[in-house]
Amino acid sequence: MKAVLPYTSFTVAVLLLVLCMAAQAATPDNEVKALREIAEQLKKKDWNFDVDPCTNETSWFTPKLDSRPLYNNSLICNCSNSDGVCHVVELFLGGQDLAGVLPPALVKLPYLKTIDLTRNYLSGNIPSEWGSMQLEYLSICVNNLSGPIPSFLGNITTLGYLSIDNNMFSGTIPHELGKLVNLKNLSLSANNLTGELPVALTKLIKLTEFRISSNNFTGRMTNLFQSWNQLRILEIQASGFEGPIPSSISTLSTLTELRISDLVGEGSNFPNLSSMTGMTKLMLRSCNISGQIPTYISNMRQLQILDLSFNRLEGRIPDLSDLTTLKFMYLTSNFLNGTIPDWIKSRDNRFQIDLSYNNLSEHSAPSCRENLNLFKSFSGRDNSILSECLKYFPCSKDRYFLHINCGGKATTVGNIIYEEDEETAGAAVFVPVRERENWGFSSTGNFRDVTTRNDYVAKNVSALTMKESELYTSARLSPLSITYYARCLANGRYKVKLHFAEIVFRDNRSFYSLGRRIFDVYIQEERVMKDFDIENTARGVDKAVVKNFNAVVNNSVLMIRFYWAGKGTTAASETGAYGPLISAISVESGFIHLNDKMKMTIVVGAVVLVLLLIFMILGILRWKGYLGGRISREKELRRLDLQTGFFTYRQIKAATDNFNVANKIGEGGFGSVYKGLYGTRICIMGYFNLQGRCL
Ligand SMILES: *[C@@H]1O[C@H](CO)[C@@H](O)[C@H](O)[C@H]1NC(C)=O
Ligand SMILES: *[C@@H]1O[C@H](CO)[C@@H](O)[C@H](O)[C@H]1NC(C)=O
Ligand SMILES: *[C@@H]1O[C@H](CO)[C@@H](O)[C@H](O)[C@H]1NC(C)=O
Ligand SMILES: *[C@@H]1O[C@H](CO)[C@@H](O)[C@H](O)[C@H]1NC(C)=O
Ligand SMILES: *[C@@H]1O[C@H](CO)[C@@H](O)[C@H](O)[C@H]1NC(C)=O
Ligand SMILES: *[C@@H]1O[C@H](CO)[C@@H](O)[C@H](O)[C@H]1NC(C)=O
Ligand SMILES: *[C@@H]1O[C@H](CO)[C@@H](O)[C@H](O)[C@H]1NC(C)=O
Ligand SMILES: *[C@@H]1O[C@H](CO)[C@@H](O)[C@H](O)[C@H]1NC(C)=O
Ligand SMILES: *[C@@H]1O[C@H](CO)[C@@H](O)[C@H](O)[C@H]1NC(C)=O
Ligand SMILES: *[C@@H]1O[C@H](CO)[C@@H](O)[C@H](O)[C@H]1NC(C)=O
Ligand SMILES: *[C@@H]1O[C@H](CO)[C@@H](O)[C@H](O)[C@H]1NC(C)=O
Ligand SMILES: *[C@@H]1O[C@H](CO)[C@@H](O)[C@H](O)[C@H]1NC(C)=O
Repeated sequence: MKAVLPYTSFTVAVLLLVLCMAAQAATPDNEVKALREIAEQLKKKDWNFDVDPCTNETSWFTPKLDSRPLYNNSLICNCSNSDGVCHVVELFLGGQDLAGVLPPALVKLPYLKTIDLTRNYLSGNIPSEWGSMQLEYLSICVNNLSGPIPSFLGNITTLGYLSIDNNMFSGTIPHELGKLVNLKNLSLSANNLTGELPVALTKLIKLTEFRISSNNFTGRMTNLFQSWNQLRILEIQASGFEGPIPSSISTLSTLTELRISDLVGEGSNFPNLSSMTGMTKLMLRSCNISGQIPTYISNMRQLQILDLSFNRLEGRIPDLSDLTTLKFMYLTSNFLNGTIPDWIKSRDNRFQIDLSYNNLSEHSAPSCRENLNLFKSFSGRDNSILSECLKYFPCSKDRYFLHINCGGKATTVGNIIYEEDEETAGAAVFVPVRERENWGFSSTGNFRDVTTRNDYVAKNVSALTMKESELYTSARLSPLSITYYARCLANGRYKVKLHFAEIVFRDNRSFYSLGRRIFDVYIQEERVMKDFDIENTARGVDKAVVKNFNAVVNNSVLMIRFYWAGKGTTAASETGAYGPLISAISVESGFIHLNDKMKMTIVVGAVVLVLLLIFMILGILRWKGYLGGRISREKELRRLDLQTGFFTYRQIKAATDNFNVANKIGEGGFGSVYKGLYGTRICIMGYFNLQGRCL
């Protein structure tokens, strides 16, 4: 009896414990069932439904070592609920290449607050079931999703974060999105959105981040900005909008990052950004801005990146010497004049400063230093292409061709040697001629949000099988602009061949296949390709495309520039996988050119030929009788044409024995008439009209 009690109480205790555990641990059946459906819709295979998803984290996923840096596989539950069960509240399924669709069954997880499906291979549209969810965080960026942005997204008023960038959504932004009054972060970049921005977006007064780059919007940016007084990040790169930048932008005093680029059409002066003293990254690139750079930029004491490139700015470079944090400055391609200020000269090479393509005065050129790009920075002289600090090498001879294996080793293809191009490029780098006198390049721009990718070279990831594959195994990559320039070329026409192959993106049904690389190409500052997409043109990755152009060289320099105009994806497959990619360049003269030996041969040949010709002409003239008097009288007489009655002066002269008076038979209306002798025949010949008749 006595022994039974402890036994029984032990059993009860164990039972209680088990019950208690079960009560505490269980994920409700309906949520487990929903997860099964979700797994099916996503095509997710590694959830283990033999265990409870909320309480057995270690066994819920098939243990899988995934080294992909962007991989995330977490299911997060809240088990401290009054009903004593666990609810699924967050799902992070990033970087998994899930190839299904957006799961409508998500709506069956009523406590779900966060869903992150970033970097997968999901396709299709946003399911209408989602309109009744209570989500706070929704990220479906970097997928292959399409269709419109549905208006029912406006029903999820709890949303604080919405990111659908780097997909293929099309159509207009529904004005219902204005209902998302709790929204702080909105990213719609890198889609195919059209139309104008709805005015209803002004109601999103909590916005801190707004990104709509790389789209197909139309019209001008409307005056949305006034009400967004908490906005910190604004990004409108290559969105399709027309300029100018609306003046209401000056109210966004809380901005820390502002990026506007590639506006089309009309420009303006520099917008008033004087209130934005907390700015860290300021980019107004290719916005057709004219006038001077405002001096208040020196009040942006935390400024790290200043990019005002490709505008029409003029006047002097302002004094930004107080900006000790300024790491990158791009004033590339403007009309800035005056001297290079001392504060720039005194910065060391930790500061990357690009002043290329300007109108500065050459006498102010500083001594040479790394990470200060002065390519074509100066007005005036032709050789300003090479700044004073880089020393001007006179050309040793005329050249007629140039072959470069961009980003790679020296390579021989057929009988053509492609020169190596393994110099380190960078944010503000001019790679000068050094030991080779005939070419160099100017590289401008840094990859955004990436600190690791700074080699500016792409290498193939799969074995390449195309013809001349050596040219494509590595390629130059540029985050903004790279100019290859050839010098010492003989003036004349050239054929330019540009070799491209997409060796970064894949076509393997993973998020590595979702990138869209789009860029422009200029030859001699004339745009020869706009919105060029290597993969589209080649109909696949790892396939070569060769583009042929004609160019004219007239000051012995040829420039080929590759420019990223903000289009395409920036985060698919990885951040920093965008911008021009060039595998090889081939430049050949379109005219016959000769080396010295050949020239000598030709000169000698020509002299001989001319002499021969002269002799021949003399011979013929003589034979015709125009030269010398040595043709015999008989010969001349033999050639008399007795039929026509016309004679040459020479023939008459011969027949009349040099107008012997003895042969003169009279004086007529047409001058003297002679008797001529042709063999045995006698001819009467007029001296003046060179006519006659033979009897
Ligand atoms: C988790 O599941 C594994 C395998 O089914 C099991 O061995 C383990 O005891 C479970 N852990 C918990 C805490 O339930
Ligand atoms: C997944 O992402 C969430 C949110 O960013 C983070 O809290 C979590 O640690 C990540 N998990 C893994 C495995 O990276
Ligand atoms: C879990 O849910 C309870 C009740 O809904 C809530 O009070 C609590 O803050 C939640 N915990 C977490 C970590 O979200
Ligand atoms: C969105 O909300 C409206 C009313 O608030 C409702 O009529 C509509 O059915 C909802 N749409 C969806 C898809 O849930
Ligand atoms: C939302 O935007 C703010 C401001 O830019 C930023 O600090 C925050 O990290 C963003 N939130 C998320 C989840 O990315
Ligand atoms: C983008 O949208 C426009 C108009 O909606 C359409 O004509 C075009 O084909 C779309 N582009 C792509 C690449 O889908
Ligand atoms: C944008 O629209 C133009 C003209 O409608 C079209 O040619 C282009 O393909 C569109 N861009 C994208 C990314 O679809
Ligand atoms: C820049 O703006 C001016 C007027 O402000 C206009 O005349 C010019 O055509 C624009 N340039 C471009 C490239 O659109
Ligand atoms: C720029 O805006 C500030 C206020 O944000 C104002 O004080 C200043 O006068 C404006 N400057 C110009 C030139 O309009
Ligand atoms: C610089 O440009 C400004 C405006 O374009 C002009 O007024 C000034 O004379 C120029 N200065 C020099 C040194 O060329
Ligand atoms: C650049 O400078 C040169 C010479 O100083 C001048 O002729 C030219 O007009 C200037 N260009 C611009 C756009 O200011
Ligand atoms: C994305 O999906 C469309 C169909 O919606 C398909 O035609 C296209 O090939 C897919 N894109 C990629 C990169 O697989």
